Amino acid sequence: METKIFYSKEQLARYFGDCLIELTEKNELIHMALSGGSTPETIFDVLSQEYKKSIKWDRIKFFWGDERCVPPDHAESNYRMTREHLFDHTPVLPENIFRIKGELSPEEARADYRHILERELPKVNGLPCFDVMLLGMGDDGHTASIFPHEIALWDSPEWCEIGTHPKSGQKRITLTGRVINNSRDIAFLVTGEKKAPKVHEILNQKGQYLSYPAARVNREKSLWLLDQEAAQWSETGS
Ligand code: 6PG
Repeated sequence: METKIFYSKEQLARYFGDCLIELTEKNELIHMALSGGSTPETIFDVLSQEYKKSIKWDRIKFFWGDERCVPPDHAESNYRMTREHLFDHTPVLPENIFRIKGELSPEEARADYRHILERELPKVNGLPCFDVMLLGMGDDGHTASIFPHEIALWDSPEWCEIGTHPKSGQKRITLTGRVINNSRDIAFLVTGEKKAPKVHEILNQKGQYLSYPAARVNREKSLWLLDQEAAQWSETGS
């Protein structure tokens, strides 16, 4: 596991943007799964404003690690957030965007996304293989849409599952642990002081860290990109 700590979200975003420049220079095609929530907004804004011409956007196929079961124009849609902060400002190819169809019933959305993964992703170990898996982490240690109260979903034999937000009851489609850990590279983008306790427990393998889905992500493949606020409790970090 590698950690990099940044002074600000913007500095973290520039590091990530530089990585994407290199990745899209060296590879004709990148399959990338995006995280949702609010953390990516600032990161996507920096990429839109400062990396519009330097990243070979047409070489990236975009997927998501999870999506809320809401229509694509809903305020809580991860697709809408990504469109507003990234796709509307960069030369991404529309045909390279593979959203989870939150407007369908959860069962239909899960089946549809599994079909997309089957059709679009190269297979390694008999599983879809993403080149880059972006993950966030909730204050409770969830990642994608696998929450602590449903941590059994992490080990599901399925490629996608239906998760339930513990407070709102909102249904969400999520990749499972076997697909997430089958990725070539995994990057956690975690910022803000509210994340610091769980970051500390997971990075330092303390407390009840294994009860957090984010701790189940393959440590050898994981790069944790943190701002100073999220890292403030952690002894580790480069
Ligand atoms: C989602 C996510 C989820 C998110 C964390 C962190 O759909 O909400 O993919 O896993 O990454 O909840 O969310 P914030 O960035 O809003 O703190």
